[in-house]
This record gives sequence, C-alpha cells and structure tokens, in this order.
Amino acid sequence: MHRAAGPLPRPRPGPWPRRPCAGSRLRSAAFGPGLARPASQRLRPSPQRPRRKPRRHKTEPQLRRRATKFILGRAIHGFRETEIAQWSEASREILQRVRDTAFLPGMSQLSLVHVLDLDKSGYIKPHVDSVKFCGCTIAGLSLLSSCVMRLVSEQNPEDWMDLLLPRRSLYILRGTARYEFTHEILKDEESFFDGQKIPRERRISVICRNLPAPT
Ligand code: OGA
Ligand code: MN
Repeated sequence: MHRAAGPLPRPRPGPWPRRPCAGSRLRSAAFGPGLARPASQRLRPSPQRPRRKPRRHKTEPQLRRRATKFILGRAIHGFRETEIAQWSEASREILQRVRDTAFLPGMSQLSLVHVLDLDKSGYIKPHVDSVKFCGCTIAGLSLLSSCVMRLVSEQNPEDWMDLLLPRRSLYILRGTARYEFTHEILKDEESFFDGQKIPRERRISVICRNLPAPT
C-alpha cells in the first residue's frame, strides 16, 4: 500500500452518512456475492462531478441483458456489467473462499455477484457505494489486469492512499475505507504505483457485498 499526504488535483465532496461495521477499521488486503437491486442503484457518484451521458458499449448478450447504465454511467467509464447467480462448481469454490475471507459468520450477503468488465480505457471515478443497498464490506477479485485503486478521505482530501491491485488479487474494503474514503480505479494514463507504471488492460472485477444492517 502506498500512503500519501498531499494535495490531490481535484476537490472532494463532503461526508456521506455512515453506518459503521462492528469492529471494522481501515483495512485492505491485496491478494485475491448478489444484488437485490440493479448495480446502478448501489453507486453514489461524487456530487461534485459533472454529469455526463453514459457511454455506449458493444456488449456480449449476457452482459448486455443485465446492464444497468445510467447511474453507473456517471461513475464508471468504459464498462459493461452483470450480476450472476449461477456459477460453475470451480467458481463457487473460489467465491466461497472470498466470502469466508471477507465476511464475518452470520453477515447477510447479497446472493448475486456483481461482475464489472472495464475495457482498457475504462476507469471508475471516485464514489462511495450506496449505504442503502450495500453493507459494510465490499470484496473484489481483480482479474486479467493489475490496476491501482485510490482511496481518498472525504473529510480530508489530503489524506489518500493508492493500493496496488495485482491481477488475480482480492481486496476488501470495510469500515473506514468503505464509508469514509471514496474509492476509484485509475485510468491507464494515471495508473502508477510507487512511481512505476501499472499498465491497464481490460480488467474484470468480481465483487461480493453484504446487505446493509436492518434499520
Ligand atoms: C463498484 C466498484 C471496483 C472494482 O462497482 O462500485 O467500485 O474493483 N468496483 O471494480
Ligand atoms: Mn464501488
């Protein structure tokens, strides 16, 4: 993890409402489930970002079928996505390992898994996942391409850190990192870690989330 204190070029929005996760602290692991609502409703793009029309993409049938474009389109560029309930046995085993690693026993998890396919020029702008639709933990497998995830404190934008997500790694955002920092995936032109270029190719992320605590 590369942590930095210093100005970032862009302004950041004010604090989001928070719903803390029991015993959670800022934490991420760099190594290696579904959505009751469309993925578009789980994202809350930065309100200071200009709203742009979602980009259109050629999509494969399965990805096109479930694509939810508009709200996501403001936070993510160059993507297609789906939510998957049925997995092969081999994939189920991997996903179970992810869930066992990321979620505490008894946490209600979304049964569908969010799959996001970013093309080489695609990127994810700073946002905090909606507290209405997602709980305190987000676990993502990064596949095909390494990338850099940037976390920026909403309270103090000078407090930020970059995380190198090697291909085939797992990251876990929970607690402070999930609620008090925006996260983003840098575009290829900005994709550096510790001064080293991290070339961005097409990247697929497989993301498991838990449900928000009942209110
Ligand atoms: C998201 C997101 C990160 C990733 O879908 O909300 O932040 O690893 N994805 O693709
Ligand atoms: Mn997100």
